[in-house]
Amino acid sequence: MDRANAFDLLRDYAAANRHYDTIVLDPPAFAKSKRDLEKALGGYKEPQPARDEDAAAGGILVTCSCSFHVSPHDFLKVVADAAQDAHKIAARAGEPRGGQGSPNMLNVPETSYLQCLILSVTN
Ligand SMILES: C[S@@+](CC[C@H](N)C(=O)[O-])C[C@H]1O[C@@H](n2cnc3c(N)ncnc32)[C@H](O)[C@@H]1O
Repeated sequence: MDRANAFDLLRDYAAANRHYDTIVLDPPAFAKSKRDLEKALGGYKEPQPARDEDAAAGGILVTCSCSFHVSPHDFLKVVADAAQDAHKIAARAGEPRGGQGSPNMLNVPETSYLQCLILSVTN
């Protein structure tokens, strides 16, 4: 297994035309306050492999956000924009929410900050 800065590694792999069956992006919270929101959205968009020329084509991309200040709407938009920029079709294959440790309670919107999209990515 490679161990590296994810931003650099994904750029290097794309430049080397390496392909993947599955990529999991589960970064730390980029938006620790509302002030960080714009920068954080850029951080979520930058490494999305759906953006890179051939990475993840025909593969599965699992992409997550644990930033309290990034809404499900914002996160979905950033991932969708990344796919559009790359001229890729990203289809939702699953969207697990919450879990035993951090339940996503329907009547408590603040608990919906843990987000995960499972996407099937094709050209
Ligand atoms: C939300 S946690 C992921 C937890 C992981 N999914 C697990 O189940 O153990 C974010 C992780 O990203 C790592 N990380 C932070 N910046 C990184 C970077 N630039 N490249 C690669 N990993 C990074 C952190 O060390 C941390 O372990």
